[in-house]
Amino acid sequence: MRIDRSKLSLDHPVSSLDPHRATHDEAAEWLRYGPLVPVALPDDVRAWAAMSAEAAQTVLDAHPDLSSDPRHWGAYARGEIPAGWPLLHLIVAESMLNADGADHRRLRQLVSRAFTPRRVDALAPRIREITEELLDGLESRGPEKMTDLKEGFAYPLPLLIVCELFGLTDADQQRRLRDNYRTMLDVEVSGAERQAAAAGQREVLARLIDERRAAPLGDLTSALIETLDDEHGKLTQTELIDTLEIILLAGHETTVNSLTSTIHALLTHPDQLTALLDGELDWPSAVEAGLHWNAPLRTLFMRYAVRETVLHGVTVRRGEPIAVGVAAANRERRGTVPTRFDIRDSRHYDRQLAFGAGPHYCLGAALARLESGIGLSRLFTRFPAMRLAVPESELVPVISTAMNGYAALPVVLGPTST
Ligand code: HEM
Repeated sequence: MRIDRSKLSLDHPVSSLDPHRATHDEAAEWLRYGPLVPVALPDDVRAWAAMSAEAAQTVLDAHPDLSSDPRHWGAYARGEIPAGWPLLHLIVAESMLNADGADHRRLRQLVSRAFTPRRVDALAPRIREITEELLDGLESRGPEKMTDLKEGFAYPLPLLIVCELFGLTDADQQRRLRDNYRTMLDVEVSGAERQAAAAGQREVLARLIDERRAAPLGDLTSALIETLDDEHGKLTQTELIDTLEIILLAGHETTVNSLTSTIHALLTHPDQLTALLDGELDWPSAVEAGLHWNAPLRTLFMRYAVRETVLHGVTVRRGEPIAVGVAAANRERRGTVPTRFDIRDSRHYDRQLAFGAGPHYCLGAALARLESGIGLSRLFTRFPAMRLAVPESELVPVISTAMNGYAALPVVLGPTST
């Protein structure tokens, strides 16, 4: 099939972004149309999808014709996007993710100052403790019982670490945070339920801010409040809540998927797992290979054309949005699509896109790498004989337009190493 790219337009999407469909099937189909493909998102919201590594890089680098600010999104400005549209709260929040230029630098710099490598490194002992506590819980279930490793390990680990970072120690509030947040990301609930959960989430975060304002501690929330209350006050209350929310949304589910996908990759590549356990390969490389092979973020939403522009042979009109197919672009690197998960071959993962690129490059990449490295190494060292409890073909992908991972990861832990 020969495609005339100049004829592609959002008026005629070639496919729809189906949350039920496996990420890599979709990528294989769409790439036939070229690096930028017009697609329909849920509720027939139209967007371009950048599917190749080159197109993804073009969109993510600070392109002069593209903006991260949703005020440039024509359909949103015209009121055409339903209020409870999946991920809308994330896309339009007043956070660094959705800001450009000086505004973005201001928001990012303030958070990165409170999110220093020292603060991240200082979390390592606590990450180890939380990991061991979760592993104790798993072990108590017995070596031969089927256990969902996502529910019992990959989901709570990064959530407890974000709570630690925020200074959210109250177990009830942690539960509210988790429940609201699950609903906010659930594509199968109604828009009204999603909006109610988003409002509940803001209450939890506002309460945390009030508590920390009354009694500051050494956490990220206290550091951000200090910035807000600085006489040169640089963060508004809304920006502060949105910033915490964005850290939770950007930092949790992505890390959950990173852990589940890499655990799955190691369970299905036992030769590489053995090499890791024998010390021939190292855990940070396993984390990178896993991020590359199954990028946790399937699609990154979005950038908007501030004026008509031609990108990779297609005309993107002013106000049209572009989503980035990170998982697809990551595998389609430099024209070579690796056919297997391979920790030894760093050619594919040395310049990968799992954490994005350009000015919005993931602020939490160091933390994600640290917690994934600790989590994976401790899990497999403690349960070296762990195996999948169901055939691989029975694993169900996460239902999401944005995320790439498994809905559950049933395993049998096997005996603990002595
Ligand atoms: C494996 C785990 C993770 C993955 C795959 C991931 C991926 C990404 C990607 C692709 C972006 C770029 C978004 C864009 O360009 O619009 C991003 C941004 C961001 N991430 Fe992560 N992330 C992960 C973990 C984390 C963690 C643990 C945190 C913090 C706790 C975090 C905080 C952020 C923030 C604040 C941004 C916005 C940066 C900006 O707009 O300047 N991420 N992440």
